[in-house]
Amino acid sequence: MGGLGARSDGAMPRREAPLRGEELTSPARLAMVLPSVIGHRGAAACAPENTLAGLRKAWELRCRWVEFDVQLTMDKHLILLHDDRIDRTTDGRGSAAALPLAALRSYDAGAWYGPGFKGERIPTLADAVALLGAIGVGANVELKAVRGREAETGVAAAAMLCRLWPSHLPVLISSFHQGALAAARARAPEIARGILFHAVPKNWRAVAESLGCAAIHADHRRLRRAIVAEIRGFGYPLLAYTVNYPARAHTLLGWGVTSVFSDVPHILAAAGVGNAAAGAAADKPNPAEPPPQGAVR
Ligand code: G3P
Ligand code: MG
Repeated sequence: MGGLGARSDGAMPRREAPLRGEELTSPARLAMVLPSVIGHRGAAACAPENTLAGLRKAWELRCRWVEFDVQLTMDKHLILLHDDRIDRTTDGRGSAAALPLAALRSYDAGAWYGPGFKGERIPTLADAVALLGAIGVGANVELKAVRGREAETGVAAAAMLCRLWPSHLPVLISSFHQGALAAARARAPEIARGILFHAVPKNWRAVAESLGCAAIHADHRRLRRAIVAEIRGFGYPLLAYTVNYPARAHTLLGWGVTSVFSDVPHILAAAGVGNAAAGAAADKPNPAEPPPQGAVR
């Protein structure tokens, strides 16, 4: 794909004030810099997930942060990919952990989504960092790992972010894998971490403290007002995935959720998500609301 392209409003990337990464390991400080809406896998309903085109699309849709998934190839390169296998999101087949980078990069990661994205490749983490640095977008780097490679993945990602991540932008590592988070912490304690849960367990705080996590991430479908209040009451930012309906986003943010991950960040923004006044008025489900197009699994 070509250069950065232009955002629809023609705006240039905004340069932020210098940011010391370690400041974000404080839950309170992290909560202050997180936006209400984070592009999920880039902007997964608008461009192929976990590709440079997707990250660029999120920027065009005015996202200040994106989330994407990272895992190791057979030859220890970090790539952006959600599934263990490449079958769903490329024209290839096989497990990423069993294939070298050169083979993975030979497949098309955009044509499955639409002809306009033909030629897109699986990006490396280094590719993604370079793009995000250029367009001024913060990142939540989610660590995925097959069994047995959790720590290796955490160390590799932390080392690469230490080396390449631009210091003026915020970055947050997250994972369902506690081993990956522990290893990332050992390699780069100054990079903020978030623990991912499906349902938030009763001992969430002990888990977060044991890993030095500054954020709690959870499946929005299992969140209730009381657990949101509890987490926020202890000062932790709470990030909820994956929220594609404006009414639900308004409800969650009204409960105190800090950020929602969305495949359709522009639809949420158009509905005033992140705008407190609009949120108060819309804190009700809307049964007439159409499902967002192209919502991903
Ligand atoms: O990081 C939030 C969310 O992406 C976690 O679930 O499966 O979409 O990576 P998944
Ligand atoms: Mg993810």
